[in-house]
Amino acid sequence: MNNTGSSGCLLDKVGLICTFLVGLQVLRWLWRFVYDNFVAVALGLNAVDLKRQGKWAVITGASDGIGKAYAEHLAKKGLNIVLISRTKSKLDIVAQDLEKKYSVETKTIAVDFTDTRSIYHDIDKQLTGLEIGVLINNVGMSYSHPEYFLENKDNDHLYDDLIACNIYSVTNMCKIVMPGMVERRKGVVVNISSTAAQIPSPMLTVYAATKSYVVKFSEDLATEYARYITSVV
Ligand SMILES: NC(=O)c1ccc[n+]([C@@H]2O[C@H](COP(=O)([O-])OP(=O)(O)OC[C@H]3O[C@@H](n4cnc5c(N)ncnc54)[C@H](OP(=O)(O)O)[C@@H]3O)[C@@H](O)[C@H]2O)c1
Repeated sequence: MNNTGSSGCLLDKVGLICTFLVGLQVLRWLWRFVYDNFVAVALGLNAVDLKRQGKWAVITGASDGIGKAYAEHLAKKGLNIVLISRTKSKLDIVAQDLEKKYSVETKTIAVDFTDTRSIYHDIDKQLTGLEIGVLINNVGMSYSHPEYFLENKDNDHLYDDLIACNIYSVTNMCKIVMPGMVERRKGVVVNISSTAAQIPSPMLTVYAATKSYVVKFSEDLATEYARYITSVV
């Protein structure tokens, strides 16, 4: 009788301690979120002066969607923009628009990031001599529709293309652009991942896995280069 009572009491205590620890962790996450998104922003504590990182920003997948929005935002801040994506005509329209609206310089590079071979040599050559302060690795592709791994009949090389476009691009663009940042001891790299990297994503398996690579790569790269450049996120 006594034994049951004391083991019940012990379980209560363990339960309380666990609840306390989980509560503490939730509070820490909440505080971090509120601090990063509201407190630090309001007080200007986490603001990086992007224009002071270098004269140019490089954005992959820049002619549409999120990449185009980054191009607009950074041009508005006065950075010159290198826009990289597949379709030259689309790139030219965005570039002309930015030059007209914000009086910045632009440069366009038309490449297909599913091609893993020659494009990086070409990109490297075209970026030579530019003082690049911001790199936005935005380009990315997904499936046309969710599908079982073995059932994808759309495209024989879909998985190769996904890996090339989502993983090779981030890795190689960092390899090309970061040496200049390290030399000047400043620069910001933003690698775009996806919530698919953090939540269960069956039927988008290869896409989600490539985006997990982006998270892990960015976290460890940020640690490696924290001494040299402003941030990798
Ligand atoms: N949109 C979302 O809801 C969402 C959610 C989570 C994560 N993301 C991630 O955010 C990033 C941008 O997404 P988004 O929806 O803004 O993309 P988007 O609207 O589809 O824009 C794609 C851009 O990338 C270019 N592009 C596509 N494939 C390319 C290739 N093989 N080679 C070179 N350029 C290529 C396109 O240019 P062309 O038209 O000339 O090919 C366009 O400029 C991606 O990495 C995506 O995975 C998006």
